[in-house]
Amino acid sequence: MPHKNKHLNPSPFSSRYQISNKLWALNEKIAEKYLKDKDNLTILDYGAGASPYSSLYEKNNKYIRADIDKSQNADIIIQANKIPLDSESVDIVLSTQVLEHIEDYNQYIKEAKRVLKPDGIIILSTHGYWIYHPHPVDYWRWTQAGLKKIFSDAGFKVLDAYGTITTRASGIQLFQDGISHRVPNILKPVFFFTCQILMKIFDNKSFHNEDAAVYAVVASKNNK
Ligand SMILES: C[S@@+](CC[C@H](N)C(=O)[O-])C[C@H]1O[C@@H](n2cnc3c(N)ncnc32)[C@H](O)[C@@H]1O
Repeated sequence: MPHKNKHLNPSPFSSRYQISNKLWALNEKIAEKYLKDKDNLTILDYGAGASPYSSLYEKNNKYIRADIDKSQNADIIIQANKIPLDSESVDIVLSTQVLEHIEDYNQYIKEAKRVLKPDGIIILSTHGYWIYHPHPVDYWRWTQAGLKKIFSDAGFKVLDAYGTITTRASGIQLFQDGISHRVPNILKPVFFFTCQILMKIFDNKSFHNEDAAVYAVVASKNNK
């Protein structure tokens, strides 16, 4: 499916070309698997920001954007770590690149569990190898095993786990981000293009998804 979201249709001269494309592909794969033949779902985008993946999930569903930040076009505002929704009212909680910004991530997951219906699922992605990026803060990095563990510990059943942008390509991203401030502005597009194309080449030759820039889990509230 072609990208419908400008945020996720970056130029190959941008510093986030490969990660944006890979995250789109990952979300598309997960949405196809878990939303297939389903409609009238209530989907909560938990820490929505600009809700970059909404077009993959909102068709024929009720899509609710929640954030702490009023400026992000949120439908509902999270205050004091509470989602202003009834318990057991949501079919799918979607959380993309939020968990690393949450001081008390156990409370965040607990609150997601509260609003999920008994057969509801959470689709969550967060960073492994990535630069520091406060939004408004940045506390954590994960491994795939660690991410699965915190969901199991919270009483979820982990259904699927993924990794994207594998080791060698992550190394190129970190190299690019680590020295880009020293590259003259006029050369930046060429520098980014070179790094991003190298990432693409190396990413395609590396299949170890337990060592990645981003991990995703799909977990069900029903752990039977
Ligand atoms: C890196 S952005 C990711 C936004 C979007 N989900 C995406 O994939 O582009 C992190 C988002 O988490 C939100 N956020 C930070 N702390 C939060 C909290 N305690 N509860 C919910 N959202 C939070 C921020 O306001 C921001 O919109």
